[in-house]
Amino acid sequence: TAEDATRAVKEHKVDYQKVYKEIAELLASEASEAYEDGSYGPVIVRLAWHASGTYDKETGTGGSNGATMRFAPESDHGANAGLKVARDALEPIKQANPWISYSDLWTLAGTCAIQELSLGNVKVPWRPGRQDKDVAACTPDGRLPDASKEQKHLRGIFYRMGFNDQEIVLLSGAHALGRCHTDRSGFDGPWTFSPTVLTNAYYQLLKSEKWSWKKWDGPKQFIDDGSRSLMMLPTDMALIKDKEFKKWVDIYAADEKRFFEDFGKVFTTLMELGVPFPVESKPITFDAINA
Ligand code: HEM
Repeated sequence: TAEDATRAVKEHKVDYQKVYKEIAELLASEASEAYEDGSYGPVIVRLAWHASGTYDKETGTGGSNGATMRFAPESDHGANAGLKVARDALEPIKQANPWISYSDLWTLAGTCAIQELSLGNVKVPWRPGRQDKDVAACTPDGRLPDASKEQKHLRGIFYRMGFNDQEIVLLSGAHALGRCHTDRSGFDGPWTFSPTVLTNAYYQLLKSEKWSWKKWDGPKQFIDDGSRSLMMLPTDMALIKDKEFKKWVDIYAADEKRFFEDFGKVFTTLMELGVPFPVESKPITFDAINA
């Protein structure tokens, strides 16, 4: 309830730093190192984004407030395939800190992963005070982007959350992290050579590599002609096909410092979409631990 959220914010001011530290330790743990590419970070970032990206500004529904992906049908939506890995990895931290809501924990975990995986280069101010909701608040399927589509679809989805073209390009830069899985989305492969380090490599590779349609039985995706080990989704390629988007790809490919600064701000906004914070909630900027 709202009272629980207000109480957590008032009584646990110093404890958010402790939870941040526990998440950073999870990211550096043996279990995380044994996971693909050596980190739970990317899949945790995806959990936080999919919890937030259901927001619809017209109806005020969806968003990170609620953590309704704990429940079917939302947990079974195609876009959320594989995110149980992230939810399960975070569960012991929830058990050790029962006062924190899942919605605060998941967004704090995404925030922590961005900061740690960017080696402290990206600062993501984070505010506490989200409340968990029950299954009735699950959002309908189809609110998250479909990777097989292009610029028109991207604008439809992200404008609905209240973002603009610059922010669409910025947020897509998170694909420097992680990879696609044939048993989750059907797509295959990483976007960059260092999928556990957040840099502006995604934009640089979009521009520098020659991308061709991958010849395979899977869904339509791109492969780089050079190493033939990287991938781009149709929605990623739309960022260099579309003139307005391309302008921002050029800027962020050329200026990593600006990418770090702007990405931190837009990720905070994403984590806060539709959240009615208690008045006691103030932004906290955590120090990266593994930087
Ligand atoms: C992974 C699509 C935007 C962060 C993926 C995957 C797809 C996808 C298909 C692969 C899932 C899998 O097979 O495991 C899209 C589309 C977007 C989008 C169409 C529209 C622009 C974003 C945004 C963020 C993000 C805004 C965060 C700010 C990630 C991360 C992964 C990922 C970190 C890697 C997950 C892992 O390694 O397990 N995305 N995404 N994506 N996405 Fe996106």
